[in-house]
Amino acid sequence: MGKLDGRVAIITGAAQGIGAAYARRFAEEGAKVVIADILDSTNVVNTIKQSGGDAIGLTVDVSDKLQVREMVKTTIETYGKIDVMVPNAAMFAHLERRSFLEIDVDEWDALMAVNVRGVFLCCQAVVPEMKKQGYGKIVNIASSTVQMGVPWMLHYVSSKGAVDAMTRAMARELGDDGIRVNSIAPGLTMSEQVEARRDDLQANVAMSMTARAFKRDELPDDLVGTAVFLASADSDFMTGQTIVVDGGLVTH
Ligand SMILES: NC(=O)c1ccc[n+]([C@@H]2O[C@H](COP(=O)([O-])OP(=O)(O)OC[C@H]3O[C@@H](n4cnc5c(N)ncnc54)[C@H](O)[C@@H]3O)[C@@H](O)[C@H]2O)c1
Repeated sequence: MGKLDGRVAIITGAAQGIGAAYARRFAEEGAKVVIADILDSTNVVNTIKQSGGDAIGLTVDVSDKLQVREMVKTTIETYGKIDVMVPNAAMFAHLERRSFLEIDVDEWDALMAVNVRGVFLCCQAVVPEMKKQGYGKIVNIASSTVQMGVPWMLHYVSSKGAVDAMTRAMARELGDDGIRVNSIAPGLTMSEQVEARRDDLQANVAMSMTARAFKRDELPDDLVGTAVFLASADSDFMTGQTIVVDGGLVTH
């Protein structure tokens, strides 16, 4: 029996990278998975189906309220309910590291629209469905850059700080509805797009490796067990928490 048997989960930004790893593992644990991304997610959906799982792919821009509402409507039409929301989509892997003095206001707003407004819109859209069943699990994706105060990408670190703050405040608003809201704070993780930039990010990769308790790269599969735990009944008495999964770099 899978830990997520019978659950319906939406995972955004899951056409590749860490989101795709969550989607594959959720399906292995018995969840029906909705993969939402601006990119085509056919490959991930096919991989899941070939392994006997159930998934659909939707093209969605999470910063757009109407597209997010449509994603929820299609999920209900396809699977009848929503138990788990993982708003994982974010602008991250392609960001140039530079002083915040050089971050243009349009770039700041574009990133916040995806990383903060996108999370807000996804949670706002699924909560009415979760309230109907008096139960739900929201698994937000923050970042250990918040605890570390990582320099040179102030828009990104600020956006993940907002995700952390939303996690705590939403958890208190939604407790009486049986909706649990927690988040995962990954360390620097070698998803495909980050791996493709390993040379550019050499200083960050080396620093993380040296400072971790476990002296190796963090990989997407290192995060999926925690995501399954937070999406499953095993974590039902936890809410408003952020779990750092970074191989023992940040301790708090
Ligand atoms: N990789 C890391 O080192 C790391 C560390 C901490 C936190 N995180 C977080 O983990 C998550 C996944 O990271 P990743 O490394 O797999 O990143 P990634 O860039 O490979 O994946 C992000 C996904 O989000 C999608 N996306 C971007 N904008 C979107 C939009 N407007 N609407 C819908 N989808 C959109 C992209 O197409 C992509 O598939 C992100 O939230 C990231 O901030 C990553």
